[in-house]
Amino acid sequence: MLGTDCADADSAETDGTSSDNSLRRLESRARLFEPLTDQMFRQCGLGPGMRVLDVGCGTGDAALLASRFVGSRGVVVGIDASGTAVATARQRARERGASNVTFVRGSLGQYSPAERFDAVIGRFVLMHQPDPVATVWRLATLVRDGGILAFQEFDFTQRPLVRPELRLAVEAFQWITATLAGLGVDIGMGMRLHQTLVSAGLPRPSMLVGAAVESGADSAACELIGDTVSDLLEPMITLGVATPDEVGAPTLASRIRQAALETDAVIVSPYIVSAWTRVQRRPTGDLELAETS
Ligand SMILES: C[S@@+](CC[C@H](N)C(=O)[O-])C[C@H]1O[C@@H](n2cnc3c(N)ncnc32)[C@H](O)[C@@H]1O
Repeated sequence: MLGTDCADADSAETDGTSSDNSLRRLESRARLFEPLTDQMFRQCGLGPGMRVLDVGCGTGDAALLASRFVGSRGVVVGIDASGTAVATARQRARERGASNVTFVRGSLGQYSPAERFDAVIGRFVLMHQPDPVATVWRLATLVRDGGILAFQEFDFTQRPLVRPELRLAVEAFQWITATLAGLGVDIGMGMRLHQTLVSAGLPRPSMLVGAAVESGADSAACELIGDTVSDLLEPMITLGVATPDEVGAPTLASRIRQAALETDAVIVSPYIVSAWTRVQRRPTGDLELAETS
């Protein structure tokens, strides 16, 4: 689930023509996470006419949503290191007729736009950065005075909530989180957002915690858990988290779905934590930063 590895982006064709499978996965993930991202965008003040940068945009979910907030007078730029993700994002924007959003391939550590943005947003991206405080500090330099910095990150450190308890789903969550942690992903990034922003010298952020909740035959959760386990299978085995026989990747999603339907289980995603703040600048244009630790 979970949009943490973006392997779906890299399985898309390089010309941006997505396979049915990767499109299905993109739409599933969009359906799961969009309401929470929409809520953060509303609360942080994204609005018509703004210039917005989406860092680590992947296949464009958050940028495409932001493009609806900024409207025809606004602009959204999505940046991502993955060429295949950027190609898919461009294709999705074309299909939706979203002419106010563009996608560029590049590293967010090196991106130097000519003009500052009204808002920089990032979803599920800080957890992948070796030094999130330094990343946030640098991103703040791309925001105008009074502009917005807004992030959304998972917190995988809580045991997932599945009721009635569904052993296989809980086990799959544990395989996923152990593998991500083994790969160096910060699985506690969500609840570290506050300290990260404050340590970067920014004003104390406003925060929200939410989760996607799924049940029933048309639930996207089972496929997303199965797909994520499949994407992570190689490192999962190499790291000794689970064996191929334990995982049974080809049938994992359908087994979880069957067990979930038998008990009409409700599956709650890991916490998705939102944090946003506004950049303050001195009259000189320099960042007004609190003392960093
Ligand atoms: C888990 S995906 C999230 C994608 C998207 N934000 C979303 O919510 O669907 C993380 C993305 O960040 C990108 N990424 C990570 N570090 C990056 C960096 N330093 N510069 C540019 N892109 C980066 C990856 O290529 C990947 O597409």
